[in-house]
Amino acid sequence: MAPFIIDGKGIAERIQEELKPRIAYLSAKNFQPGLAVVLVGDNPASQVYVRNKEKACAKLGIASFKYHLPGDVKPEEIFDLVEQLNQDTRIHGILVQLPLPPQILEKEVLYRISPDKDVDGFHPYNLGRLMIGDPIFLPCTPWGVQELLLRSQIEVEGKNVVIVGRSNIVGKPLAMILVQKAKGANATVSICHTRTPNLLEHTRRADILVAACGVPEMIKGDMVREGVVVVDVGINKVGDRLVGDVEFESVSRRASFITPVPGGVGPMTIAMLMANTVKAAERFYTRQTGEFCPGA
Ligand SMILES: NC(=O)c1ccc[n+]([C@@H]2O[C@H](COP(=O)([O-])OP(=O)(O)OC[C@H]3O[C@@H](n4cnc5c(N)ncnc54)[C@H](OP(=O)(O)O)[C@@H]3O)[C@@H](O)[C@H]2O)c1
Repeated sequence: MAPFIIDGKGIAERIQEELKPRIAYLSAKNFQPGLAVVLVGDNPASQVYVRNKEKACAKLGIASFKYHLPGDVKPEEIFDLVEQLNQDTRIHGILVQLPLPPQILEKEVLYRISPDKDVDGFHPYNLGRLMIGDPIFLPCTPWGVQELLLRSQIEVEGKNVVIVGRSNIVGKPLAMILVQKAKGANATVSICHTRTPNLLEHTRRADILVAACGVPEMIKGDMVREGVVVVDVGINKVGDRLVGDVEFESVSRRASFITPVPGGVGPMTIAMLMANTVKAAERFYTRQTGEFCPGA
């Protein structure tokens, strides 16, 4: 039977719709959420991601502030910019588009972002809060994966979730989200990586398989069991085609649910970024006025 194709684009649009009343509430108080996006260099993929984030802000009435720095920028210049954005009261979320050029240590920049404005959820403070099950800002892509599953009525509790990839921005935080004692979680999670012997043994026993390895179409049909739920986080340009980390055709013959690329996890990442920005703005508003925000 053909699998159910999870409509990430549609789900992401609904999430953004749900943010509108929260933004309108703030707007009625003459307060507009603001997101700063820092782009360094001329990486074409990063430029597309930044443009999509700006478009999403414009659609929702979130102010976006773009800072485009040259690829040969000195680390101190980025540090100064981040500090300036931390102090700027128009800005409630700061996003530094990754990857950064080699002369800049990513963690040196990410650790300087105020945890209150860390809408990407990459600051150790926010990752620590996630780990102990008391999160404020969840990293957008893994949170998007959880929301996709929740809103597709796919039960995660008690399931064997196998994640291929252990990056700090996708694999590890996703494992941490899905293993929590919480709604949309309570899974038994395994994380696989390049040092995992017998990857097949792991992928074949997955009830839910998440591919986040950055290798185009690496997960093939014979690596999964019948009825598996497959979430493909990958975005790879192969020639003029955009493909995931999953070979869609062969895997979809066995899967019960599968996310497409494009139109799966990608739009969710942006929707969750918007959700984090609105939350950051609400928290800022409450801190400043002492007034509770109903959506927060
Ligand atoms: N949809 C979105 O919004 C979104 C957001 C972020 C990323 N992405 C995409 O998601 C994918 C993963 O991104 P990332 O930043 O997490 O990638 P990454 O930092 O390159 O990490 C890739 C991970 O996959 C593992 N891996 C690579 N080849 C493997 C293999 N043959 N067998 C087992 N494990 C393997 C690596 O293992 P080691 O640790 O051992 O090297 C590493 O942990 C990419 O395609 C990226 O473009 C999409």
